[in-house]
Amino acid sequence: MASLTKTLYKEGQSGPMIEFLDLGMQPIANNFADTADKDEYKYNLSVGFDPDTCLVSLMNKVDPKKMFNDSYEYRSSMSNTMQQHFENIAVRISVLFNPRKVLEIGSNDGVFIKHFNPQDVVAIEPCGNMVDVTTKMGFTTYKNFWSKDVANKLKNVHGEFDVVYAANCMCHIHDLSDAFSGVADALSDDGVFIFEDPSLASTVENVAYDQFYDEHQHIFSVTALYNLLLKEGLEIYGVEKLSVHGGSNRIFCQKIGGNRSGNIIPTLIEESKQGLAKLSTYKDFAESVIQSKDDLLTILKAYKDIGHKVICYGATSKTTTIFNYCGIGTDLIEYITDTTPNKQGKVSPGMHIPIVSPEEGFTDDVDIAFLGAWNFQKEIMAKEQAFLERGGSFITHVPYTRVVK
Ligand code: TMP
Repeated sequence: MASLTKTLYKEGQSGPMIEFLDLGMQPIANNFADTADKDEYKYNLSVGFDPDTCLVSLMNKVDPKKMFNDSYEYRSSMSNTMQQHFENIAVRISVLFNPRKVLEIGSNDGVFIKHFNPQDVVAIEPCGNMVDVTTKMGFTTYKNFWSKDVANKLKNVHGEFDVVYAANCMCHIHDLSDAFSGVADALSDDGVFIFEDPSLASTVENVAYDQFYDEHQHIFSVTALYNLLLKEGLEIYGVEKLSVHGGSNRIFCQKIGGNRSGNIIPTLIEESKQGLAKLSTYKDFAESVIQSKDDLLTILKAYKDIGHKVICYGATSKTTTIFNYCGIGTDLIEYITDTTPNKQGKVSPGMHIPIVSPEEGFTDDVDIAFLGAWNFQKEIMAKEQAFLERGGSFITHVPYTRVVK
């Protein structure tokens, strides 16, 4: 298989981005393979800032079909936290907007739409295995990437939508102008577009450089979204800060001039104070990332040297970035435990660390567990009291490298 940057997907590469962070050659973050493939596809994961829009994006684009295909491993239903999260927002949408027709962009395994009547929902999803899941649940699911063209085809068949919802999906899309313009086309005149994605403010605050991986083409500030959406005829009227995925923003939009009102100025001021519109903030962030790498390697080596058994808890996409950037392999992390059946028995992308079930791997001889799924820290700490009580420790790298008890 060909590797390296010459196979990169270059179409529609964005404008005058200024690079501030280089996380090296990286594999596809969710590409959990049966065996170590030495010719695994890799691309240069570097991150840039667009001073015109304040958008932070990857400098290179990976072909979407390499990431979102019929063997996509990530299932949104895999944690109680996310199950509850999607139930809450689905119920709120029903109560607040009483929509006749809902469109979900990126429906994954149906964790959100399952709270609606199948007749009232249309879903779009590029991963065939996920399309099969929601189709079997009775939902009309189209196997497509989102685009303006697709939006207009859906509108012709189903009419306009009162609510368009997307979770952890818009940040995947390379051409945001086309994507947001498509949403504006699909939305009814008084419709609402609600979407949520990891927050740039939290990413910077937590030095969570592992939010950057192939799927996360952009990490959004509200400031950048405000600029980009206005160009496509949409205005943000509400923002909610969410704790999921290490800190996310839920954005509420309507067509410009719509009758909903909300004050997003405090959020824009907060982001301005944090420096999210200034390149120097990102240069400082890049310095902190180097420090984070040094600290993590130091602590892992120290535990290894005294003979502790160190594993990783959660084979997340984020750990792909960390392990490949820091050069962490089985010399430092013996194996990874993960609850996702499809990841078990496979190896992690790039560094090829074996993945096993928690039953097999989270055993009494484990001394230290690196919190790969640090975004579920609360849920995990509550679940793993016995491990902590017998003297086991978790370590995390956010917001700085430390032991958590
Ligand atoms: P995410 O951070 O990309 O959402 O992925 C979370 C991964 O962590 C997913 O593969 C499931 C796994 N996980 C566990 O193995 N144990 C847990 O207790 C939780 C909450 C998640």
